[in-house]
Amino acid sequence: MRVSLTDAIALLKRGEVVAIPTETVYGLAADASNDLALKKIYAVKQRPANNPLIVHIADIHQVMDYADEFPPLANKLAQAFWPGPLTLVLKSKPTVSIIVRANAPTVALRVPSHPLTLQLLTQSGLALAAPSANRYTQLSPTTAAHVESSLGENIPVLDGGACPVGIESTIVSVEGDDWQLLRHGMIAAAQIEAIAGKPALQQPLETPKAPGQHLLHYSPNTATLLFQDRTALLAYAKLHHNCAALLIGDALETPIFSDGFDITLSNQPEQVAEHLYEALHQLDQLQASVILIQLPPATAAWAAISDRLTRAGYREKS
Ligand code: TXA
Ligand code: MG
Repeated sequence: MRVSLTDAIALLKRGEVVAIPTETVYGLAADASNDLALKKIYAVKQRPANNPLIVHIADIHQVMDYADEFPPLANKLAQAFWPGPLTLVLKSKPTVSIIVRANAPTVALRVPSHPLTLQLLTQSGLALAAPSANRYTQLSPTTAAHVESSLGENIPVLDGGACPVGIESTIVSVEGDDWQLLRHGMIAAAQIEAIAGKPALQQPLETPKAPGQHLLHYSPNTATLLFQDRTALLAYAKLHHNCAALLIGDALETPIFSDGFDITLSNQPEQVAEHLYEALHQLDQLQASVILIQLPPATAAWAAISDRLTRAGYREKS
């Protein structure tokens, strides 16, 4: 159900959940100070209670309402990348709801850059806890239609169009002048390192690894197979019926898939990220027997995309 900005504000103030657009993916938002509203997020997503939520704030000045410490390194990263697809995990103030933090001593914060959601944050005066607006372990939503197909037509959605970054934010945890990458995203580790002036800590910080990072994540319903190179993928497709495929790089010269059963994304990481989930959502609709996925080159520029595709291709052994 699409709602206006005014309705979204009213619903959130009343303790309801609303799906909101961000530059990365759609989030399922609730007032970060309302425990009953926060519990609705976990219920709607069917998300385990031990997986904490990111708090979205309107600007950097709100960090100290939630974080106990704002180390100079974290401040520099926020100045460099906010509003934008960077989440900072910092030592939490004790007043932050333990439902948001899932009992962790830390809190995850981000200022998103989507204009409609920035307006929502500013006009409502709320901080919004929001995980991606999909059911637990499913593909993340980058359009209002994706949200509705995952969570149902009754979820109020503030439609802000397709998300321009397309994959979830980079998550960095900061303690003093040390940092650690908890989740790859389109802000690359090298960009963090350039500002930090030193590489990520290799041994884990005291803060736990992002608990949502288990392998079964971001998965289509259709089975998937990953291929390091395209030749092997095409050879497999020739021998098996009803395959769909996600290719990266040049379009196929000779079609070997049924019409609409292959999608080729460009060889630019930013463009692939933008269209990645939409492509997977489309291929997932086809009732193919398997989605064959061509992995991008194993270089730093593709780290976030490789991470998402590897998880999409993971199946728990039964
Ligand atoms: O781009 C994004 O980050 C999107 C948009 C909506 O902002 N949100 C998103 O939320 O991807 P979610 O819940 O799907 O992923 C958030 C990740 C989870 O893996 C969670 O475990 C981790 O952030 N996280 C949240 N709070 C944390 C904390 N205090 N310490 C460590 N990890 C945390
Ligand atoms: Mg998610």
